[in-house]
Amino acid sequence: MDQPQKQPVIIGNWKMYKTIEEAVSFVNKLAPEIKESKAAVYLAVPYTAIKSVVEAVKGTSIVVGGQNMNDATQGAFTGEIAVRMLLDLGAHFVLLGHSERRRFFHEDDAFINRKVDRALTDGLQPILCVGETAEERDQGKTEEVLTRQLKECLNNIDPSRIDSLMIAYEPVWAIGTGKIATTEQAQAMHQFCRHWIQETYGPQASAQLKILYGGSVTPENAAEMLKQADIDGLLVGGASLSVESFSQIITSTS
Ligand code: PGA
Repeated sequence: MDQPQKQPVIIGNWKMYKTIEEAVSFVNKLAPEIKESKAAVYLAVPYTAIKSVVEAVKGTSIVVGGQNMNDATQGAFTGEIAVRMLLDLGAHFVLLGHSERRRFFHEDDAFINRKVDRALTDGLQPILCVGETAEERDQGKTEEVLTRQLKECLNNIDPSRIDSLMIAYEPVWAIGTGKIATTEQAQAMHQFCRHWIQETYGPQASAQLKILYGGSVTPENAAEMLKQADIDGLLVGGASLSVESFSQIITSTS
């Protein structure tokens, strides 16, 4: 029997790029290019541009979100942002545990776990990022690291809420390096994560939960990645910054 065609999720992560004007001009150009695409397109934009991008994508199916948040509802946390502030801007989702947050801002699994819980409680969809460093892979610790990250970041998350989130497998050595994982490496780790979800939350959760691949995705390699059985979507950094490459990725995959 033919597998039902999956609807890929393609997320652009703009990181610390684009002013409001640049962001709005980007989505105004992107929207007509991807009109025919069946992919679910998400954009994780800088806080300052969220509201304007939300306005600009009205009438399209592009979903707008943030790149980080704090786990507290409010409080004396200078420079931080709360879920209700992101919701206020019109955000629908948030990236959590991105390796740049873990590495440069020393976020640990326990903190990320509190954020996942807060996002789910307050109504923002979390995209939980996990992935091993080159050193951990070389030492044969990839599965151990993924197990620890999944276990700790999802600690005490109610099983009934698990399918509201998505997981992004992003090997740290592939992020921004141009050194993408092979399709075999990526598929193997996606299968591993899905198996862990199945063991922990049951077959329904594992069938429904979307697991995205991230790390040096380009228009040249996107479609091949998405052909893998356990790869449901892509998290795209560098190649999401230009309308040309991002729209090519979206149209090549759906
Ligand atoms: P990249 O980044 O596509 O530039 O490798 C991916 C990410 O950081 O999510």
